[in-house]
Amino acid sequence: MNIRCARPNDLMNMQHCNLLCLPENYQMKYYFYHGLSWPQLSYVAEDDKGRIVGYVLAKMEEDSEDNPHGHITSLAVKRSYRRLGLAQKLMEQAARAMVECFQAKYVSLHVRKSNRAALNLYMNTLHFTISEIEPKYYADGEDAYAMRRELKSFEESKSDNNSVTATENNGITTASAVNVNTNAFLSN
Ligand SMILES: CC(C)(COP(=O)(O)OP(=O)(O)OC[C@H]1O[C@@H](n2cnc3c(N)ncnc32)[C@H](O)[C@@H]1OP(=O)(O)O)[C@@H](O)C(=O)NCCC(=O)NCCS
Repeated sequence: MNIRCARPNDLMNMQHCNLLCLPENYQMKYYFYHGLSWPQLSYVAEDDKGRIVGYVLAKMEEDSEDNPHGHITSLAVKRSYRRLGLAQKLMEQAARAMVECFQAKYVSLHVRKSNRAALNLYMNTLHFTISEIEPKYYADGEDAYAMRRELKSFEESKSDNNSVTATENNGITTASAVNVNTNAFLSN
């Protein structure tokens, strides 16, 4: 398994993974909007044949110059690749990139109140907290928890992560810095 920054030709496979895993789906142009605007922030997990088995689609909020913050638009891991730590790694990489590239102070997201797996991941593993409940946020009428995570810890460790190195953790190789391939969207 490998986690890396998403490239333009990953976007269709990310959409495919999204369609398999979630009822919240987006047109292709929304993936391109993310990829072209914030090429550093979205990540994919690929298997040893280079097939996309998970992704995080992320962006910066554009209304917040004083208090820059990132937002997780979508996260999913294919069913047979779950509980391997992939979502955790994808989320950590996106958060680190938000801090290193855009000085993000916090990251936000929405999650269905009934999504036990995602809530466990966000609250227990990644230390997000609930900032508010948004009634009937989803198209089917379900409420969302709006959640956020402060990114101070990433800011503090920023100076330790200026080089690109591969680290092995639970069998998953991740880049420990995010100035990886940020021009992929421009050069391809
Ligand atoms: C939520 C989701 C992304 C988690 O992906 P994952 O790669 O399996 O998550 P990880 O392996 O990184 O899990 C990290 C921790 O999250 C929690 N967690 C993950 N899945 C869980 C589950 N099914 N039940 C309870 N806790 C769960 C656990 O604490 C887990 O740590 P552990 O395995 O050591 O107990 C995945 O289940 C998924 O794609 N679901 C459908 C799409 C979705 O709901 N996306 C989120 C929308 S907001």
